[in-house]
Amino acid sequence: MSSVDNFLSLADAPGDTLADLLRLAARIKAEGPDPALLAGKQVSLLFLNPSLRTRTSMEFAATSQGAHVVTLAPGADAWRVELESGVVMDGDAAEHLTDAVRVLSEMADLVGVRTFAGMRSLAEDRDEPVLTAIAAESSVPVVNMESALDHPLQTLADLLTMQEELGEDLSSVPVTLTWAPHPKPLPMAVTAAFLRGAARMGMDVRVVSPPEFALPDALITDARGILPGTGSISVHHDRNEALSGTRVVYAKAWGSVQHAPYEGDAGEQIDGQAARMAARDWCVTDETLQCGDEPIFLHCLPVRRNVVVSDGVLDGAHSRVVQEAGNRLHTARAVMARILGGA
Ligand code: CP
Repeated sequence: MSSVDNFLSLADAPGDTLADLLRLAARIKAEGPDPALLAGKQVSLLFLNPSLRTRTSMEFAATSQGAHVVTLAPGADAWRVELESGVVMDGDAAEHLTDAVRVLSEMADLVGVRTFAGMRSLAEDRDEPVLTAIAAESSVPVVNMESALDHPLQTLADLLTMQEELGEDLSSVPVTLTWAPHPKPLPMAVTAAFLRGAARMGMDVRVVSPPEFALPDALITDARGILPGTGSISVHHDRNEALSGTRVVYAKAWGSVQHAPYEGDAGEQIDGQAARMAARDWCVTDETLQCGDEPIFLHCLPVRRNVVVSDGVLDGAHSRVVQEAGNRLHTARAVMARILGGA
């Protein structure tokens, strides 16, 4: 099976392929799935990190189209796996991820994998060593269910939600991707994936954060590199400026490259915990949204209420987070229908 059958990143998907996939998801949402499309197919889902939305949507996406699914959580209901290559496995892990993927792909027609950021080095995470190894070892298509610096299934649902609200053509639509406070330094997978997806659609993306939580230049440069000729990516530290006239406020917490976990990538270190707490007023509130042009509010969920976003926004008229999460199902169905069902 060639790598073109994998679904690893929207960075690999040309704009017309992405547009087709979104149209397929919209059609499946409107008409319902074909319950026999994937009859006889076997899907194996491997979660190395917890999940509510991804697991549910992927399982329902497969079963509602006739496939059979086995979901495994190594360390909980399957053997704990080792991720490093070339190590002496005399610790807790009973099985190497390489062997697990080889075996699962021997039995299944599609393997979905959720890994996580190594958080030792941004350069290493950008190389996606675990996901790349999985794709290399699998003899069947691999779907990225979140990796070190990507979450394309989430972004598909984000894009579908924006199309439903703002029209199919998202080119030059202003969207503000705002950093939000969080007790923990979270990885940048959703952030980087959203940036890629919005860039692919030619949106005008304003990325805003306190200076110490600026996204790495490499992620901005990568996204600019896939703009289709329309759209832009601009970087801000003044939130009102970035929100002015925006149609979408997408909130996400992420850690800084200036402190651990990415210690060593930057010369200047900061106390990340103290900096995150000092920026608590970056919580998205009704007042925040007033700077935009009647913006919709999006977040991938799970979300920390009254830290990342206020109850008022999350439960209010601007919020589309439940619709967004529901679209995880329709977009996951489209991905499986395309890979396994030839749709
Ligand atoms: N947004 C998202 O991927 O949610 P889960 O972690 O619950 O799957």
